[in-house]
Amino acid sequence: MPEPIEENNPLDDLEKILVSESDIQARLAELGHQITCDYVGRELAVIAIINGAIIFVADLIRQIRLPVQLDCIRVASYRDETRPVQQPEIIDRVRLDLQGIDVLLIDDILDTGQTLSMITKTIEKMEPASIKTCVLLDKDAPRSVDFSADYVGFKIPDAFVVGYGLDFAERYRQLPCIGMLKPELQNPPAWN
Ligand code: IMP
Ligand code: MG
Repeated sequence: MPEPIEENNPLDDLEKILVSESDIQARLAELGHQITCDYVGRELAVIAIINGAIIFVADLIRQIRLPVQLDCIRVASYRDETRPVQQPEIIDRVRLDLQGIDVLLIDDILDTGQTLSMITKTIEKMEPASIKTCVLLDKDAPRSVDFSADYVGFKIPDAFVVGYGLDFAERYRQLPCIGMLKPELQNPPAWN
């Protein structure tokens, strides 16, 4: 097979890697084990908040040794900028009947807490047996609502990150690691 041309590899757009591919994979095995133990003998409905959680959920559910039903909820809260510009809005709802079911709601990152707090309330109205939340990343950022996740992959500093499902303008989701973009590639350029 010919070697791919390396000149527009998106990995080169990272200034710094915060969580490596191998660290992510090792942590997924631990999280999957913990979730399996916590729900042993039961069936789980995993609800992925997409697009951001798509890669994380795909890998994590393969580490869960339990029957799993999978559904997605699509939320829009960011446009092309690196800061939230609006309240999260559900643009495609859950189709599974969650009444009496144990639900694990999964997102890529916990930042202001608005997304998970709003979706948790929406799912509670569907009368599940229980609801817990899981995020790959917990950002050390001021929460605009009081919220903490039940399962956390990694705690990270308050920086804008991409990769492993997280995007900037829908790009970089395919990176196998989590990193910070070079400042000149961000719009607006300054993020602190
Ligand atoms: P929250 O509602 O502020 O907690 O933010 C959650 C959503 O914001 C996530 O589902 C992400 O889509 C997005 N988000 C927050 N921080 C980042 C980031 O650093 N990079 C990319 N997306 C982010
Ligand atoms: Mg996003």
